[in-house]
Amino acid sequence: MDAATIVDELLEWSIVGSFSRIGLAVRHLAFGWATIPDGSLEGRTALVTGPTSGLGRATTEALARLGARVILVGRSPDRLAALRDELQEAYGGGRFPIVVADMGSLASVRAAAAQILETESRLDVLVDNAGAIHSERTVGPDGIEATLATLVIGPFALVSSLLGLLRRTPGSRVVAVTSGGMYFQRLDLDDLQSEAEPFSGSRAYARAKRAQVALVREWARHLGTGSVAINAMHPGWADTPGLAESLPGFYQLMGPLLRTPAQGADTIVWLAATRAGRARSGALYLDRRPRPFDRLPGTQLSPSDRRRLWDAVVGLAGIPDPLPET
Ligand SMILES: NC(=O)c1ccc[n+]([C@@H]2O[C@H](COP(=O)([O-])OP(=O)(O)OC[C@H]3O[C@@H](n4cnc5c(N)ncnc54)[C@H](OP(=O)(O)O)[C@@H]3O)[C@@H](O)[C@H]2O)c1
Repeated sequence: MDAATIVDELLEWSIVGSFSRIGLAVRHLAFGWATIPDGSLEGRTALVTGPTSGLGRATTEALARLGARVILVGRSPDRLAALRDELQEAYGGGRFPIVVADMGSLASVRAAAAQILETESRLDVLVDNAGAIHSERTVGPDGIEATLATLVIGPFALVSSLLGLLRRTPGSRVVAVTSGGMYFQRLDLDDLQSEAEPFSGSRAYARAKRAQVALVREWARHLGTGSVAINAMHPGWADTPGLAESLPGFYQLMGPLLRTPAQGADTIVWLAATRAGRARSGALYLDRRPRPFDRLPGTQLSPSDRRRLWDAVVGLAGIPDPLPET
């Protein structure tokens, strides 16, 4: 094992060193990360969900700087329009279409996908980023618990609806933004909607993120090599409005150790824009390197658990299985 890899492994085990800005800075130096050249994504189309804040906004700006057309998918028409105007001002006009979608509503996701299919002839990158922690258990318009609906069911329906377009676009990728918090929770396949115990927003969130990564592995298994590459990444801990609002105590405690949004988004952009970012499919990344799916005993999902999850999610999304077993 080389020195850089040893340092990286030690950081991984420290958790705070790994997830904070220290981990990113050390890995950047140790592995000599290359800067992604401006213009790398000229002629390419990317889609970002949740582009109006935090990591989604940092990702959007980076993809715009690299020359991509970026479809802005968010739930607030006003915030989307303001962002589009700022991007047009900064990076040049005509390449930041807005699409309104609440990821927690299947009707809204379906309408967004239909709009995208009508206007777009290619889709090189889909970044599944939108997310939030819900402090109370609420049920969305489809009768699905809101965390699961927003983080799992809506994104699954979006990728399924756009799969044909992604498949027709050579070199396309999907990047799912997950959370290191998923390492600390086991997914209960009999209680996907968090009904069995008193509701905890952070537990429901971590479980939904574990489900999201399990689905990434299922997508990749079915798509195989040479098709759409689909990977998950977790950003460590980044200073975003979402983190400040949902975990204020932790946010204050970590203070200057938090990554900037651009640092948190670095691996999203690397997976979206580089050749190396398509070298694998079905992996989980932190700081430009694949990481284990599980850290704690008893949290693993077996291949049949993952298939069971897939079938349950297809049922909740109310769509035909996009990749049925043959
Ligand atoms: N920050 C971190 O340290 C951290 C760590 C691990 C994982 N993550 C993940 O990173 C992603 C981005 O989080 P962030 O920290 O950047 O949070 P953020 O600042 O709150 O941004 C979240 C974005 O998601 C959008 N969104 C939330 N619910 C939505 C819904 N139902 N439909 C459509 N859009 C919705 C928000 O839209 P509005 O502008 O309309 O609110 C916003 O654009 C999330 O998936 C989060 O779980 C973040």
